[in-house]
Amino acid sequence: MYKGVIFDLDGVLCHTDRFHYRAWKKVADEIGVPFDETVNRRLRGVSRLESLEIILEKSRETFSEEQKEQLAEEKNTYYRTLLSEMTPADMEPAVREMLQELRAHGIQIAVGSSSKNAPFIIERLGAEKAFDAVCDGTMITHSKPHPEVFLKAAQALGLEPGECLVVEDAPAGLEAAKAAGMDCAVIGQGPWPEKPEFELKSAAEVAQIA
Ligand code: BG6
Ligand code: MG
Repeated sequence: MYKGVIFDLDGVLCHTDRFHYRAWKKVADEIGVPFDETVNRRLRGVSRLESLEIILEKSRETFSEEQKEQLAEEKNTYYRTLLSEMTPADMEPAVREMLQELRAHGIQIAVGSSSKNAPFIIERLGAEKAFDAVCDGTMITHSKPHPEVFLKAAQALGLEPGECLVVEDAPAGLEAAKAAGMDCAVIGQGPWPEKPEFELKSAAEVAQIA
């Protein structure tokens, strides 16, 4: 049905979304800003600095640009410590098999992630060879819900947007896919800002719809 599938990484192919939460929670606690799962959900798919801005909406203090850079840096340092403990076992076998199955059916596979850490994560997962293209946070000027990352990923695969399926766990990611003119399969619970084409429990189910 699709010539290409573009996967979000954090929260779709692996559970790094938990690490993002832990790292932001540590920073938020240090500066005394309330942070919970509801706020965290808004950070999914959004760049590091934009995520910090969302967290700071609940702060009574104001922070200079330099302080914000420092807080984002602190979050990333802790986040990378958590990432460095990941191993190939952190990609579920069913997800790995699904990627192989897509390949076997001639479907091209890309990663479309807002994360600047995406290449490091893919390396930790030992999944470098699973993808025909990786488009990450270092290659874009606008993070999701802007469609840039998905349009670039489709271009890297040599495909038209209409030939691609996006797989996402983030409301901002679903919006980005729709803005790119792509079908979207979402994982996890709504509410979703737009109607996705598919709602899945795990990325492992993608082989059944692509
Ligand atoms: C996305 C995550 O994949 O990457 C966001 O869903 C995160 O929560 C964004 O803020 C940027 O990540 P990084 O690794 O560049 O800080
Ligand atoms: Mg995600």
